[in-house]
Amino acid sequence: MAATTITTNAPLKDIEEWDDFLTGRYQEGKSEEEFRQYDEQANPGVAEFYRLNHQYQTFDYVIGKEKEYFGLNRGEKSIWEAAEFLNTLVDDSDPDTDLTQIEHLLQTSEAIRRDGHPRWFVLTGFIHDLGKVLCLWGEPQWGVVGDTFPVGCAYSDQIVFPEYFKANPDSTHPVYSTKYGIYEPNCGLDKVHMSFGHDGYIYEVMKKYLPEEALYMLRYHSFYAAHRQGAYRHLMNDHDVKMFEWVNKFNPYDLYSKGHTKPNLKELKPYYDDLFAEFFPARISW
Ligand SMILES: [Fe+2]
Ligand SMILES: [Fe+2]
Repeated sequence: MAATTITTNAPLKDIEEWDDFLTGRYQEGKSEEEFRQYDEQANPGVAEFYRLNHQYQTFDYVIGKEKEYFGLNRGEKSIWEAAEFLNTLVDDSDPDTDLTQIEHLLQTSEAIRRDGHPRWFVLTGFIHDLGKVLCLWGEPQWGVVGDTFPVGCAYSDQIVFPEYFKANPDSTHPVYSTKYGIYEPNCGLDKVHMSFGHDGYIYEVMKKYLPEEALYMLRYHSFYAAHRQGAYRHLMNDHDVKMFEWVNKFNPYDLYSKGHTKPNLKELKPYYDDLFAEFFPARISW
């Protein structure tokens, strides 16, 4: 990989900029063409971010990162400790008007709770972005956030900014550039390696503790090409298709629950203490 400076590695002013971009991208009434043309010019940082993401998320890169992180050898932390650790991720935007990472998580989970969903669903809302702690272990923005997609097979043109995949060596690889690549038709997503990021990582952390519906939400919440555009059905099996109903149910909470009312952490804490104790031991491996 070519040497990259700090600046080219961090084209987003903070990782929330990608979430804000997503919200705009899926706002009702905006056509695909409109957002693409608009956003490339209006958000040069976001475009640069996707250029790096699409260029460097190769099959080999993903396998290397899976080996590095999926063994969960970064020590033990409680859920609150992980959330507080994530909170140390400070960005340059105005600290008075912006919400902390914990406040963002609480907004998602509280919106789910208000709609009367089961406790595991509320919990999933709170933990779904905790994998962003990868940033604090030195992973570049393009390797932590952004849309996720399968590697080891052809990149879909349904992925945002598909033209940037031209710079990815896998797009001319004799096997990885084919429709199925290293996979069998409808083999099921569990067998498919996804581009590396906070989704796949938090799934690994949580897979011992949560129901399967929650795990699908965690693992595929940024897989927009599949859950929004319907791409990659040729790799999914019937079970995936069924479980994606839950991914779709979760998505609006991820996209639209952000506001600027600060959740009252002190008031909410006892509820979340109970919720965490119901599903987790005091500390889990990260
Ligand atoms: Fe996320
Ligand atoms: Fe999120």
